[in-house]
Amino acid sequence: MKIFGICASPRNNTTEHVLSKALGHLEDNGFECEMFTCQAKDIKPCMHCDYCLENKKCIIDDDMGDVYRGLQEADGIILATPIQSGGISSNLSAIMDRTRALEAIDYNLLRGKIGMSIAVGGDRTGGQDFAHLKNITYFMIHGIIPVSGGPFGSNLGASFWSDDSLDNIKNDDYGWSSLNRTLAEFENFLNKYI
Ligand SMILES: Cc1cc2nc3c(=O)[nH]c(=O)nc-3n(C[C@H](O)[C@H](O)[C@H](O)COP(=O)(O)O)c2cc1C
Repeated sequence: MKIFGICASPRNNTTEHVLSKALGHLEDNGFECEMFTCQAKDIKPCMHCDYCLENKKCIIDDDMGDVYRGLQEADGIILATPIQSGGISSNLSAIMDRTRALEAIDYNLLRGKIGMSIAVGGDRTGGQDFAHLKNITYFMIHGIIPVSGGPFGSNLGASFWSDDSLDNIKNDDYGWSSLNRTLAEFENFLNKYI
């Protein structure tokens, strides 16, 4: 089974570290994993030109091509976002809007895949739950089945506190526990429903 992980930070640092660990774990368990990172990528916002509705593809020629392919091929999708202004990053927001073009091709294209959310904030309570809720809402809109890590600290996904430092995130034991619980459920769902 294929897993496509999106690192929605404009740089490869704390969020990329967490997503790499998550994908490494899944690879060890037999999943084929690919990461798309937004660092140095050109992802323009949706212009609401409606070209995709008529022509079954987005009119903008930028790095979204890799995201369109990765999302379509995947059985499981991981959205990993740094917290920006109390929610998901602007990169991820643009990616979400731009996938409207996939629905234009085929309404069922993302339906039935499994999704999980990772949120990395500079603060312990900097908006991780709002980011998860946005990711889960996106999953639901597209028929992607969202997983929880369970009721003991990872209700909505994996939540990390970086204090904007790679060293700090490596020692965020609570965050790693929330990741492990969410990954376990992600694997359960993939094995059961795909
Ligand atoms: C524009 C901007 C807004 C941010 N807003 C928040 C915020 O509202 N809450 C929070 O906890 N951290 C906030 N942060 C801090 C980042 O979430 C944090 O440093 C994170 O670890 C960055 O991830 P990265 O290392 O993968 O880029 C913000 C950072 C930036 C650049």
